[in-house]
Amino acid sequence: MKIQIINGPNLNLLGLREKDVYGDISFETYFDKLKTDFPKIDLYYFQSNIEGEIINKIQEIGFDFDGIVLNAAAYTHTSVGIADAVRSIKTPLIEVHISNTISREDYRHISYIAPHAKGIIMGFGLKSYNLAISSFINK
Ligand code: DQA
Repeated sequence: MKIQIINGPNLNLLGLREKDVYGDISFETYFDKLKTDFPKIDLYYFQSNIEGEIINKIQEIGFDFDGIVLNAAAYTHTSVGIADAVRSIKTPLIEVHISNTISREDYRHISYIAPHAKGIIMGFGLKSYNLAISSFINK
């Protein structure tokens, strides 16, 4: 089973950025833990601060991977382009957020991706990614 994690803008700063909201672990460190948690899954990780690169990655793997875990970060709340990419592919996609965006500012309550996602997991810290991957295997 092949699962791609895609992280959007500023998530390269996890562990440094707003630690009270996002925690003090880098995603690279957490990704090593995920690979240990799911030894039988081929896990891939991609991060970009650039909207078009995220769209390219969704298109590239969106027809033959088994699952996508997408944290589009701030683009969640703004990007018609990423939403259109998500609605164009065949691979099921789970939208993930580290924080509970509904408990935060109003502009974070909107998700352009949510209508096209299989499901949404938010508010569990980095464990949100673990829960999303689990959802693909524990059917
Ligand atoms: C986030 C929530 C977004 O509102 C924010 O712009 C992020 C991270 C999260 O994982 O909680 O960068 O997607």
